[in-house]
Amino acid sequence: MNIAVIGAGYVGTTTSVAFANYGHKVYVIENDQEKLKKLKKSILPFYEEGMEELLKKLIAGGNLLFFQNIEEVIDQVEILFITVGTPSLPNGEADLSYVEEAARQIGKLMNEYKAIVIKSTVPIGTGDKIHKIIKAELKKRNKEISFDLISNPEFLREGKALQDALYPERIVIGCETEKAEKVMKDLYKEINSPVVFTTIKDAEMIKYASNAFLATKISFINELARLCDKIGANVIQVAKGMGLDSRIGPHFLQAGIGYGGSCFPKDIKALLALASAKKTPLQILQAVSDVNQTQALWFMEKVEKALGSLSGKRIAVLGLTFKPQTDDIREASSLKIIQYLIENHSYISAYDPQGTEHVKKIYPNVHYTQTPFEALKGADAVLIVTEWKEIVEIDWKKAKNVLSQPYVFDGRNCLNSSALKKLGYHYEGVGTPSFDV
Ligand code: UGA
Repeated sequence: MNIAVIGAGYVGTTTSVAFANYGHKVYVIENDQEKLKKLKKSILPFYEEGMEELLKKLIAGGNLLFFQNIEEVIDQVEILFITVGTPSLPNGEADLSYVEEAARQIGKLMNEYKAIVIKSTVPIGTGDKIHKIIKAELKKRNKEISFDLISNPEFLREGKALQDALYPERIVIGCETEKAEKVMKDLYKEINSPVVFTTIKDAEMIKYASNAFLATKISFINELARLCDKIGANVIQVAKGMGLDSRIGPHFLQAGIGYGGSCFPKDIKALLALASAKKTPLQILQAVSDVNQTQALWFMEKVEKALGSLSGKRIAVLGLTFKPQTDDIREASSLKIIQYLIENHSYISAYDPQGTEHVKKIYPNVHYTQTPFEALKGADAVLIVTEWKEIVEIDWKKAKNVLSQPYVFDGRNCLNSSALKKLGYHYEGVGTPSFDV
């Protein structure tokens, strides 16, 4: 099938690559000149393992084409995916201006039936709003052209985006006509995953509810970790014991210094804003957000308590991205931690295999190193912020010779605590107390 994908961000590019890989012809539209230039040269504007190679192959094979304007492709496609960004407004609501603009363009330019699919994460009710915008544009042109508005949310994880796009655990499709259902069935016929057909509003809600639930699991275990720290229980064992119950499951119960990224924080804010506008406050979700806001600070207070004062101390910050296997630093806990250290007059040396350049723009005065080991030189304490493989696999025996003091604070519970303690380290994780309380 011929598909247009509007917006070559993370979701748009990944979606395009996946559809092209399944044999569809994908016309990608990106109005940012720089990004477009890169993509045309098969350069991925973000880091995602394996994706650039596939991008290259698909461009060379002719299934993936890039354009600047919808106008250039609209008559050649039956399906248009909207994958533009929906960033947070100051009040937490999702900014729909890019989605609305894409819809207006489609309404202005379409000359025959189109299936218009919203993949961007949008508040519940946006489908109706977008439908009206397109109708209004057609009316202005005195055109009676039929179209379907469809919601098809994405469930991609950064770092595993290709796998999630090629072999999704589920496909959710919100549509309200038989024709739309048929178009979407044809589109996904090569993908052997469970498909949930539902209304547009339900599909929009499924997306938010899924992210909200995953974030709830994380904040639940993080809050429990704080209590474990106080009472001498080990949250890793607690999560393991809980997770074996299939009704609970082992995933997203890894205590740490909070969730970040471009999705959970933004989507939770948007759902809370929507709930508040509808005068139906979501109290659990509010608590989830509050716990997450304070988790990194709670961790830093632990660090401060152990070290005495942070002032004048050399602190190695290992890991800057919001999770491993990405260069994304949006809402990363590292930013809160660096800010805290700066305010407390510490010297920071930081290492990350992918995120350094982005953080450098925000904190140019931090000392950034090329290897994790370099960051350790002369440090009074090491903070593990992101569990990159090369950070987890540091030779801690050798490290002890270059550190000024053997303090390790593991914000991701990813190191072998007993091995470190045997080496004489003062080790503290999140909810894994090693002392009598
Ligand atoms: C998340 C969802 O997992 C995807 O399903 C969804 O499609 C995507 O948002 C989106 O809405 O676009 P992503 O933001 O890539 O994906 O990252 P996750 O792997 O979910 O991790 C989010 C944060 O939670 C990270 O900071 C991670 O370190 C943290 N986390 C995750 C924990 O602290 N503990 C855990 O047990 C799991």
